[in-house]
Amino acid sequence: MSLLTVDDLDVAIGGTPILRSVSFALEPGEALGIVGESGSGKSMTARAIARLLPRGAVATGKITFDGTELLAAGTADMRRVRDGGISLVFQDPRAAINPVRSIGDFLAEGLRTNRKIGKAEARRRAVQVLEEVRISRAEARLAAYPHQLSGGLLQRVMIAAALLSEPRLILADEPTTALDVTTQAEIMAILEELRRERGLASIFITHDLELAAATCDRIAVMYAGELVEVQAAETLLERPHHPYTAALLAARPGMTERVPRLPAIPGRPLAAGDPIEGCRFAPRCPLVIDRCRSEHPALAPCEQSLSRCWRAADVKVPEAGAEQLDHA
Ligand SMILES: Nc1ncnc2c1ncn2[C@@H]1O[C@H](COP(=O)(O)OP(=O)(O)O)[C@@H](O)[C@H]1O
Ligand SMILES: [Mg+2]
Repeated sequence: MSLLTVDDLDVAIGGTPILRSVSFALEPGEALGIVGESGSGKSMTARAIARLLPRGAVATGKITFDGTELLAAGTADMRRVRDGGISLVFQDPRAAINPVRSIGDFLAEGLRTNRKIGKAEARRRAVQVLEEVRISRAEARLAAYPHQLSGGLLQRVMIAAALLSEPRLILADEPTTALDVTTQAEIMAILEELRRERGLASIFITHDLELAAATCDRIAVMYAGELVEVQAAETLLERPHHPYTAALLAARPGMTERVPRLPAIPGRPLAAGDPIEGCRFAPRCPLVIDRCRSEHPALAPCEQSLSRCWRAADVKVPEAGAEQLDHA
C-alpha cells in the first residue's frame, strides 16, 4: 500500500482555483521531487498535505496518509500524523525558529509537549538528532542561539527538529533555496543519507529540475496549478514527455555557460486561477496544435511517463544551454 495518496486534490482561495485535480502516490521510502516555476502550486500542494493551508482556502479531494484520510481528519488524528507521521522543513530556517530561544530549548520543547518525556531524556534525544545531521560539538550547540549559527547550520537544526518525532515522511519545501551552492549540496547529502538509513519517504520541492533529478527517485512537474508530467528521474532528463519539462531542461545552463541563468521559456506563466479552455501550457508551447486550445488533456501514460499533453509522443530531447547561448 502507498504511504501517501493524493487523489483529485483541488484547492481554491476565495473562489479562485489554486490547485486543479492534483493526483499522485508516494511509496514508503520513496523520494519524490515536485518542480515547477514560482506560483505553480508546489507549496500549496505541500501545505494541503500538512493541513497548513492559508485561512480561507478550500480543499476538496482525498489525501490518505498511512490509512488516515487527512482532509477529513480531526484534531486527534492530525496530532498523530504530525507526531511520527509527517514532518516539515521550510525554505527559510530563520523565519521558522524563535530567535530568543536557545537551540536546546527549541528542540526540547517540541519533544516534551508532544511526548511528555523528562528534561534529561529530551536533552539526550536533542544531541542525538543533531549528531544525525552531522553537527559537531552537538552538546555545546544546545546553548547557542539562532543568530549565532549560519543559515546552513540552522537548516540542519530544522532537519534535526523534523526528525525528533521519528516521521515516515519529510516534506521539504525549497529547503536549500536560500543557501549557497556548497551548503545546498551538504543539506541534500544529509537528507539523502537520512532517507537511506531511516527508510524515510520524502517530498522535495524545488524550482531546480536538475537538483531534483539528481536527488529524487521520481519527479512530478507542475504548471499553473496542475501536474503536467510524472516520471522516474532517471528517464525524465533523457526523455521528457511534456513540452514544459523539455523547456525547463532547455533552460539549464550549458557546460561552458558562464552567464547567470536566464528565463528561457518565452511568455508569462499562467496563474492557476486564469480561466482557459484547453491545455494550460498552450499559450507558450512550441508544439501547439488547434486541439490544444480547445480540449484540456488528461494526465495519461506515454511510454514510461505520465504526461498531460496531446503531443506527448512528439516531445524532443532538448540540448542543455542552447537557448541561453543565443542570448549571451
Ligand atoms: N495566501 C494566499 N492567498 C491567495 N493566493 C495565494 C496565497 N498563497 C499563494 N497563493 C497563490 O497560489 C498559487 C500557488 O502558490 P504556491 O503554491 O505558493 O506556488 P509555488 O510554491 O509553486 O511557488 C500562486 O498563484 C499564488 O499566487
Ligand atoms: Mg513555494
